[in-house]
Amino acid sequence: MPRIKSPHLLVAESGADRAGHGLKRTMGLFHLICFGVGAIVGTGIFVGLSDSVGEAGPAVVVSFVLAAITCVFTAFAFAELGGAIPVSGSSYSFAYAGLGETTAFLVGWCLLLEYGVSVSAVAVGWSQYVNELLDSLIGLQLPGALSAGPGDGGVINLPAVIVIALACVLLVRGVRESARATAAMAVLKLAVLVAFCAIGFTAFKDGNLTPFSPAGLGGIGAGTTAAFFSYIGFDAITTAGEEAKNPRRHIPIAILVCIGLVTLLYCAVALAAIGAIGGDAVGGRPAALSYVVNEVTGSTAGGAVVAFGAVVAIASVVLAVMYGQTRILMSMSRDGLVPRVFEKVSPRTATPVAGTLIVGAVFALPAAFAPLDAVVNLCTIGTLATMAAVNVAVIALRRREPDLERTFRVPLYPVMPLLGVGFCLYLMYETGVTTWLQFAVFLAAGLVLYVLYGRRNSRLARGGLTPDDAAERVPQAV
Ligand code: ALA
Repeated sequence: MPRIKSPHLLVAESGADRAGHGLKRTMGLFHLICFGVGAIVGTGIFVGLSDSVGEAGPAVVVSFVLAAITCVFTAFAFAELGGAIPVSGSSYSFAYAGLGETTAFLVGWCLLLEYGVSVSAVAVGWSQYVNELLDSLIGLQLPGALSAGPGDGGVINLPAVIVIALACVLLVRGVRESARATAAMAVLKLAVLVAFCAIGFTAFKDGNLTPFSPAGLGGIGAGTTAAFFSYIGFDAITTAGEEAKNPRRHIPIAILVCIGLVTLLYCAVALAAIGAIGGDAVGGRPAALSYVVNEVTGSTAGGAVVAFGAVVAIASVVLAVMYGQTRILMSMSRDGLVPRVFEKVSPRTATPVAGTLIVGAVFALPAAFAPLDAVVNLCTIGTLATMAAVNVAVIALRRREPDLERTFRVPLYPVMPLLGVGFCLYLMYETGVTTWLQFAVFLAAGLVLYVLYGRRNSRLARGGLTPDDAAERVPQAV
């Protein structure tokens, strides 16, 4: 028999339905949307666009739409489960309720790829624009040795470490401050990208869009896998389940609004960039958006503004994604599947201080030393695997808990979740053999850890927590 945790127990244990539980309810709908945009829009569009354009050419807009469709199917699944089970654990908690403890542990393990490893990848992308900004403002760049890891020809990527340290400080201070900072950064980065489109479209030439699909369907497929990275993070909204004021209603709305908004924005940015200078000039270029603006305006001032926007945008992704990672580990820790240090909430700041510092320290290492490409594919396949699991969890929970209160229901059930699984598997297939092998080793390591630690310490196996136990346990001193 799989060890399955009921949705009611998950909510009761988290204390999410009680006043005075460990985390503060400070986030309204606007903050949730800003948090989503904060987690989504970053390295993928500012840095990765040039890779997707390199694969697909102007047909990158088709790639963006295909990547968005994959996300929309899964977004519906997240919206249903996030509204029905508003706890911090995201896909991990949904898998626990729908598919059992072993799958939940592996999903939580894969979330380390989606959240933790993407923090490292995103922080590495941040460095490119920090250098671009310094170059435009004062004509200086950081020495190569200090702005890239050994794989990219440097020694240590110091800016990547600094941005992770800054995010740690904000997150430790408390979510109210972080939510405010995230909202400000989200608005700013949207404004910069809209301004980018306005500038790019003034130089738009139809001819730059032909040939539309130089590498054919294969190029569009590869472009879709590359573009997918720029959507990763929308599910982070569900990790705010215990800090949202009205999670059952606002989480589903926020997820769908975020996906729609960023898809429009990404397509507009891609068209503006390619229409202005052509796909060949965009493909493979570092800090490509600054370059486009410099070319169109004939000065470096515009590029500096875009670089500033990118620096802010990418920093907010680091902040939101690290937040998500700490909340998932908190849920796993409550369940006894990872050490208890991750669930301890400081009574002073109402944040998981120790967990945040550990996450920051661990993921600063790949940020400092790993090349961007090496981590992006692994992050993509891990994310897709968790998304496939969430779609399956929707089907399992509809069968097992038909009467569960659902504020949102996936339309066209079960076609939608099945299509969601299909799209995820297709994009996983596209990541290639090497990534699959790395992923298999990663999963095997996760299984070993589960057998050696998680399975033995599982609270569910020992009867779980009653709501009263949970009330006594939070908040705890760090
Ligand atoms: N979607 C996030 C980004 O593009 C990971 O930075």
